[in-house]
Amino acid sequence: MPQTRLLAPDTEGIAAAADILRAGGRVALPTETVYGLGADARSDAAVAGIFAAKDRPAFNPLIVHVADPTMAEALVVFPDAGRALARAFWPGPMTLVLPMRPGAGIAPLVTAGLSTLGVRVPTHPVAHALLTAFGGPVAAPSANPSGRISPTTAAHVMAGLLGRIEAVLDGGASPVGLESTIVGFDTEGRARLLRPGGISAEEIEAVLGAPLLAHAAEDGITAPGQMLSHYAPSGTIRLNATAARPGETLVGFGTVTGALTLSAAGDLTEAAARLFAMFHQLDEMRAERIAIAPIPDEGLGVAINDRLRRAAAPRG
Ligand code: TXA
Ligand code: MG
Repeated sequence: MPQTRLLAPDTEGIAAAADILRAGGRVALPTETVYGLGADARSDAAVAGIFAAKDRPAFNPLIVHVADPTMAEALVVFPDAGRALARAFWPGPMTLVLPMRPGAGIAPLVTAGLSTLGVRVPTHPVAHALLTAFGGPVAAPSANPSGRISPTTAAHVMAGLLGRIEAVLDGGASPVGLESTIVGFDTEGRARLLRPGGISAEEIEAVLGAPLLAHAAEDGITAPGQMLSHYAPSGTIRLNATAARPGETLVGFGTVTGALTLSAAGDLTEAAARLFAMFHQLDEMRAERIAIAPIPDEGLGVAINDRLRRAAAPRG
C-alpha cells in the first residue's frame, strides 16, 4: 500500500508530482471541473494502477489531459467542428473525442482499445503547471473510488483514496464542480453531445453555428450504439481454458502457460495492463480461435473478466 503524500501546489510540490508520474505512479490533480486521478497515458502499467486504485469493475475509456492544444494535435485528428470547439473552449471544461493518430503512443488501456481518444486541455493553473512540468499526456478519470461521487477538494480525494495512490496535489476547491462536457464527432465531422457538463449545449451550438446531433445518454460510452465500437479481437474466444484445443491460440495466466500470456506471475495489475495490447496482438497474428486462461474474479480481475466476457459474447 503506498503512503499517500499531500503535495502543496508550489514549485516543489509540482516537481514532486511530475516525478511520481514519470516513475509510473498515480497523482490526484486539481482541475477546474473535479479532481482527476492521473497517470502517464503512455504506460499501460501506470494506467492499470488507476483502475486498481478506483476498484472499478469495468474498463471505461479515460480522458487524456495535455498542457496545450499543440500537444493535443500530436495525439488526435481534428475535423473543422472539433477545431472550432477547441479554439473556443480550450483551455477549459470541454473534452473532445477524436480519431487517434497512428503512433500517438497512447497505451491501449487508456481507450479500452478504441481508435478514438478523449482529450482535454484543463484551465486550472495547478493542472496546467503539472502537465507542463511532466511534459506528456496524463490519463485521468475522476479521483473517486468506483460508485462514489466525483471529488472537488483534496480532502474528498484523501477520504476516498488514502493509501491507494502515491499523492494528491492540493489545488483548493474545483471551481466548476461538474465534469467536463464531452463532444464526439460522426464520420462527417458533425458534433454530438456525449455527456452534458460544464459547458452548455447552447454555448457549443453558438460556436458551431449548427445544432448538435442528438445527445446519446448521460454517459457517452454506456449509450446504446456506443458499446458497439468497443474493441474486441476478431477471432472467437473461449474463456476459462486450461489447455489449447487444436487450432486455438492459448492466452495464459499464472500456472496456465499459453502461446501468449497476460501475466506469467498471475499478477492482475500486469494482466490488466496487457489486456488491450493483447487483443491487438491476437488480431495481428490473425488468431481465429482464441482460448483464455481463467482469471480470478477479484480486484482488477472483475474488470478483466467483464471485458473478456464482452469480447467472448456472440457478435453479429
Ligand atoms: O471533467 C472531467 O471530465 C474529469 C476531469 C478529471 O477531467 N474527468 C472525468 O473522467 O470525468 P471520467 O473517467 O469520470 O469520465 C470520462 C468519460 C467516460 O464516461 C467515458 O465514457 C468518456 O469519458 N470517454 C472517454 N474516452 C472516450 C472515447 N474514446 N469514446 C467515448 N467516450 C469516451
Ligand atoms: Mg467519473
